[in-house]
Amino acid sequence: MTALKAPPGAPEVLARCAALVRPALRRAVGRLHPWTAEMAAYSFGWCEVGGAPATTPGGKGVRQTLAVLGARAAGADARAGIPAAVAVELVHTFSLLHDDIMDGDATRRRRPAVWKAYGTGPAVLAGDALFALAVETLAAVPQGARAVRLLSAALTDLVRGQADDLLFTGRPWTGPDRVTVEEYRAMAEAKTGALLGCACALGALLGGADEDTTGTLDRAGRHLGIAFQLVDDVLGIWGDPAVTGKPAGGDLRERKKTYPVLAALDTPAARALPELLDSPERAKEAAELIETAGGRTAALTEARTHTATARTLLARAPLAAGAAEDLLTLLDFLVGREL
Ligand code: IPE
Ligand code: MG
Ligand code: MG
Repeated sequence: MTALKAPPGAPEVLARCAALVRPALRRAVGRLHPWTAEMAAYSFGWCEVGGAPATTPGGKGVRQTLAVLGARAAGADARAGIPAAVAVELVHTFSLLHDDIMDGDATRRRRPAVWKAYGTGPAVLAGDALFALAVETLAAVPQGARAVRLLSAALTDLVRGQADDLLFTGRPWTGPDRVTVEEYRAMAEAKTGALLGCACALGALLGGADEDTTGTLDRAGRHLGIAFQLVDDVLGIWGDPAVTGKPAGGDLRERKKTYPVLAALDTPAARALPELLDSPERAKEAAELIETAGGRTAALTEARTHTATARTLLARAPLAAGAAEDLLTLLDFLVGREL
């Protein structure tokens, strides 16, 4: 009997893509001013403050993996996707540096956020440096003009999503001005979905895919992004800080209009919720009531719906078999964090 080799699991796919992209990412960061380069290296989890080797791991590298898989899905060698992978990983890190300042979050991945470790001004500057480096990286590829257009469109969406996310915190929990789940969906697609979609699409573009395939991968990535954000919302309320790397209840204290909260507010069971949400010291009670009112279940159900749409889109596109399989494995893994 022939022993069949098991298909690689998501952690293996992520690790393989990270190993492929890392040299180019390090080379790119190495071109920065040494001060911004150190802050970038700290964000990537390569070093501690001062430059000593890191003791805690960096992020999962989801976006770089999507870019590499996008290139492979287009039938190209994985290496064709490297500039796209570098660019989206740089943009993602830039957005996190600035996001932690906007959200007032002092911790990321179990360590002080860059603005806490180096100061707000330097963190803004490091973000800017990463952004510029991403554009430079893409502009250098043969499909540069189209690639930069895709990236700028995703960034415009990301900024729009961040704007809404921030503005929503000033809106009331109930009444005619409350944030609706439809508004949430548009915000989540823009702030998180756009870059995930762009990662897939850019990889595919560099792999030689036609416009239809690139567009389908973009849409699939956007749905994955919404599902990813929904799971992030759930983890933000009920996640174990040892796993999420940030303190529990941050989103509640910051009055974030996350999906579990919005879904719970729509139920009669949550009549007492607005008062709890207005008392930051009662975040634990609020989390319990949101769960009782079905907010957690509603968010995870919604996440499953978006994963299913992403699957349908991927099944319809003419993708290279191995890469399509890896994309599906990754999809299940990312959304299965909490399902
Ligand atoms: C981050 O959104 C999205 C961007 C950086 C554009 P969140 O603020 O919800 O994510 P975390 O929880 O800080 O990672
Ligand atoms: Mg944040
Ligand atoms: Mg934010």
